[in-house]
Amino acid sequence: MRKKIVAGNWKMNMTTAEAASLVNALKDDLANFREVEVVVCPPFTALSTVSDLVQGTHLDLGAQNMHWEKSGAYTGETSAEMLRELYCHYVILGHSERRHYFSETDAIVNRKAQAALASSLHPIICVGETLQEREAGQVESVITRQITGSLAGLSAKELLDSVIAYEPVWAIGTGKTATSEQAQDVHALIRTVVANMHDATVADGVRIQYGGSVKPGNAKELFGMPDIDGGLIGGAALDAKSFIDIVRAAV
Ligand code: PGA
Repeated sequence: MRKKIVAGNWKMNMTTAEAASLVNALKDDLANFREVEVVVCPPFTALSTVSDLVQGTHLDLGAQNMHWEKSGAYTGETSAEMLRELYCHYVILGHSERRHYFSETDAIVNRKAQAALASSLHPIICVGETLQEREAGQVESVITRQITGSLAGLSAKELLDSVIAYEPVWAIGTGKTATSEQAQDVHALIRTVVANMHDATVADGVRIQYGGSVKPGNAKELFGMPDIDGGLIGGAALDAKSFIDIVRAAV
């Protein structure tokens, strides 16, 4: 049985004061909620504050990126160990915005995933095709390439400690959600690719989130699909009520 997981990706939003007020509102409702794993991923500057606020609750903390090296001359970067020190459990890797604006490749995402797992951080590894790729009939080849490249060399245990997020680029922040059938098709494809890399047990056990314009109104249908194990939520995670409604739709 895969436990559903809903994560809020706050992106480059929320000052520390705003982050504290959002997480306090989430705590009022979700502090003791166990049915779904709930993760909040604030910007780096708010991690420490949010970390203190979620201690002793069932909310988990995640970061939005990290570097693959342990330390050194990498101005502006953050290591896995630094995130662990703040009690992060998760780290989002290879989000399409990082792939697009910061030229992250599958090879880079893979190095980061290996480094995260070596420090006992659970990576949320993002994949997804662009609209152009979808219209050119390349969904299968793009997703297969991203999954095999980003997850290369991970052991069965490491894969099961990871979360995959399928986020069609054309659905992120656009208000255009993939239909539940479109999403389900790609989630099933991802399980097939993982089965080919490992075996059916790993493919069946790994959790795969859907992301891209998930809202309270469409969450239940998406999360009800057999291979969709929750969501990675952007815009709708910035409002406590809509995020709570999405989390509760995963039960
Ligand atoms: P969105 O973002 O929910 O605002 O579409 C999702 C994401 O980028 O993770």
